[in-house]
Amino acid sequence: MTTPGAGSTEDPDWKSLPLDDLTLTRKEGFAAFAEAVDPQRPPDMTMAALQALSSEAKDEHNLARRAYLANLRPIKTAQADALVGDLADILEAGLDQPYWEAKGMAAVDAFPGLGKTTVGLSFAKRVHNDMIRQQGRLTAGGHERWPVIRVGMMGDTKVKDFNWAMLEYFAHAGRSSGTANSFLAQALDCAVACESRLLLVDDLHFLKFRSKNGAELANQFKTIANEFPVMILFIGYNLREKGLYEDPQLGRRITPLRLAPFTIENEAARRQWRSFLLTLEQRLVLARKYPGMLADDLSDHLYARCSGHIGSLMTLIKRACLRAVRTGEERLTLDLMTQVKLDQAADEQRARWEEMLASGKKTSKPKRTRRQRGGRSDTADPDGTATG
Ligand SMILES: Nc1ncnc2c1ncn2[C@@H]1O[C@H](COP(=O)(O)OP(=O)(O)OP(=O)(O)O)[C@@H](O)[C@H]1O
Ligand SMILES: [Mg+2]
Repeated sequence: MTTPGAGSTEDPDWKSLPLDDLTLTRKEGFAAFAEAVDPQRPPDMTMAALQALSSEAKDEHNLARRAYLANLRPIKTAQADALVGDLADILEAGLDQPYWEAKGMAAVDAFPGLGKTTVGLSFAKRVHNDMIRQQGRLTAGGHERWPVIRVGMMGDTKVKDFNWAMLEYFAHAGRSSGTANSFLAQALDCAVACESRLLLVDDLHFLKFRSKNGAELANQFKTIANEFPVMILFIGYNLREKGLYEDPQLGRRITPLRLAPFTIENEAARRQWRSFLLTLEQRLVLARKYPGMLADDLSDHLYARCSGHIGSLMTLIKRACLRAVRTGEERLTLDLMTQVKLDQAADEQRARWEEMLASGKKTSKPKRTRRQRGGRSDTADPDGTATG
C-alpha cells in the first residue's frame, strides 16, 4: 500500500523553495481536506437560552460559533455551478482517451477574491471522492490511488521547483536530489501508478510567462499534458495579459474559463444574488437573526460593500457575525455592518454603489421582493446547497 518512491515527509530544503507551504502541498493534506466531514453546526439558541448559559458554557458556544464560521462550507452559486460543469466536461472527455493523446487543459482566470480557489478545490475534492468511491483506494497494481495532484505557485517558480513540488506532494524519497528531468520522470511514475487524473496548479499568475523560467515551465506544461494521465487545471488572475496564451500550442490547448462576480444588472442576476443571501443567512448561528435579515434588510448595503465580490462579502459577514456575538447584539443590522471595516478594493467601489442604490438608479432586489412591504419574505432558497 504505497506510492512509488514513498519517502519521508521531512525534507530540510523544502521551505527554502519558492512554493507555498500549505498542508495542501502534500497528498495527505489534500485527502484530509477532501474527506473531512462537514463541520458541525453549533445549536441555534434563543436569546433567553443564550442568557441562561453559564459563562463557561457561553464561551464554549461562542468558540464553536467562531470555528464554524471560519469553516463554512462553500455555498452553491450559479457562477460556480457553471464553472464546475465546464471543468467536468474537460476532465471526463480525457478520462478514457488513449494515453498518447494530449489531455485537456483549462485555465480559470478571474479577479482576486471571486472564489477561484474555492471552486477549484471543490471540483478537485469531488474528483478525489468520486474516483475513490468508484474505483477503490488501491489501483489494480496495488498502489494508493491519488486522483488529484495539487501544486501552488509562489514567486518565480522554475521547472525544477515545480517538478520538485509534484514529488513533494507524493512525499517521494527521490526529491532530495536530482535534475529537473529526473524529478519529472519520477513524478510521472507517481501519477501513472497512482492513477492521478487532475493536476491543479493554483496561483499561476506568479509565473512570469515572458521570462526564461516562465517560458520553460510553460513548455513543460505541454509535456505534462502529453505524457501524464492528467487534465491540468490552472487557476490565477490576469493570465491572458501575462501571456499564458502567447505560446501557440498552449493557446490551442487551454480552454479559458471565467468566474464572474455577482451582478444586479437584470432580474435573473438579482434573483441569484438574493438566493445566495438567503442561503447565507440560513447558515448563520445568531440568536436574534430572522428570515430576510440579509436578503431583504441588508441586500443593498451588502452589494454596495462588496460590489458583487464573494470574497469581500464573506469577510464582511464573518467579521460582522463575530461582532454581533461579542457585543451581544446577536443579529446583523445596518448600524453594526457600517462599523465593520473591509478591504481597500471594496471600499473604493463602495461610495459609487451606495450612490446608485440610494438614488434608485440601481437596485439589488428582484421585483417580487421589492413589492412586499419592507421587502420581508421568508421564501426558502430553492437551490442553496453546498458546492463541495
Ligand atoms: N461559494 C462560496 N461560498 C462561500 N464562501 C466562498 C465561496 N467562494 C468563495 N468564498 C470565500 O471567499 C473568499 C475568497 O475565495 P477564494 O480564495 O476562493 O478566491 P480566489 O479567487 O481564489 O482569490 P485569489 O485570487 O486571491 O486567490 C474565501 O474566504 C472563500 O472562503
Ligand atoms: Mg486563490
